[in-house]
Amino acid sequence: MPVPDGQSNHEPLIKLIDIHKRFGSLVVLDGIDLTLRTGETTVIIGESGSGKSVILKHIVRLLRPDRGQVFYRDQRIDDLPERVLAGLRPRFGFLFQLSALFDSMNVEGNVAFPVIEHTRRRRAEIKEIVRSKLAMVGLDGLQSQWPAELSGGQKKRVALARAIALDPELILYDEPTTGLDPPRADEINELIRKLQNELQVTSVVVTHDMASARKVADRIIMLYRGKFIYDGTPQSIMETDDPRVRSFVDGRSSDEILESLQEKDTE
Ligand SMILES: Nc1ncnc2c1ncn2[C@@H]1O[C@H](COP(=O)(O)OP(=O)(O)OP(=O)(O)O)[C@@H](O)[C@H]1O
Ligand SMILES: [Mg+2]
Repeated sequence: MPVPDGQSNHEPLIKLIDIHKRFGSLVVLDGIDLTLRTGETTVIIGESGSGKSVILKHIVRLLRPDRGQVFYRDQRIDDLPERVLAGLRPRFGFLFQLSALFDSMNVEGNVAFPVIEHTRRRRAEIKEIVRSKLAMVGLDGLQSQWPAELSGGQKKRVALARAIALDPELILYDEPTTGLDPPRADEINELIRKLQNELQVTSVVVTHDMASARKVADRIIMLYRGKFIYDGTPQSIMETDDPRVRSFVDGRSSDEILESLQEKDTE
């Protein structure tokens, strides 16, 4: 989407340029380009196994491309040495596909972990950061609970509090609502929007859940066989007639869609 000049708050934060990635003979990314603009929430949809998590991992350099380049602002990061990259990592918050809390630490320990890792803050300051991040996700007071004592939705929210503990510029959410019932999923959608509004963070959300995609997205992109085949607004995606996109939007197989289109033609 073209951005008018002078909107400095919408400048590119991350750029992926012609990214190719294969594992053995499996081509997962076959030349993708993606620009994430400051303050925008981009949702990536696509079938299971299409490479959505692989894209997120390229953005934070958990994976490196076989070909192509990754930029954070004006800095190329795909070829940076790990010790330089370590300084940038706190700017990215990652909510992993499985919430992946540390079971041996209570809620406070989990949220405090990145703060202790990356800063030299004092105990009282750390406690206050943990409190404010838990408050943001609606869980202040649960500091001394253990992950095993939490519901699925609470675990996701603690993981989210941990992901924002260092006030990242960019938050990556990998399937944040999977496994939650609709009301709990909606709480997570609300949180994603709230973080975007209150902290002006840039976000990428990977999801299977179209209802969630439409609620949180400024922009929806669909990955299909290694390439992006759709890039548009949550409104426009509802009107597309590309059967590969429609099947995802409607939750039907693309064969069913093609059949119904053919039936229409013969009517
Ligand atoms: N480190 C890896 N080594 C080998 N193969 C991998 C690796 N990471 C991902 N893959 C393969 O790449 C493909 C894409 O994986 P990815 O996890 O990105 O899919 P996805 O779109 O996130 O799927 P889901 O919706 O099920 O999470 C899969 O076939 C997966 O097996
Ligand atoms: Mg995935």
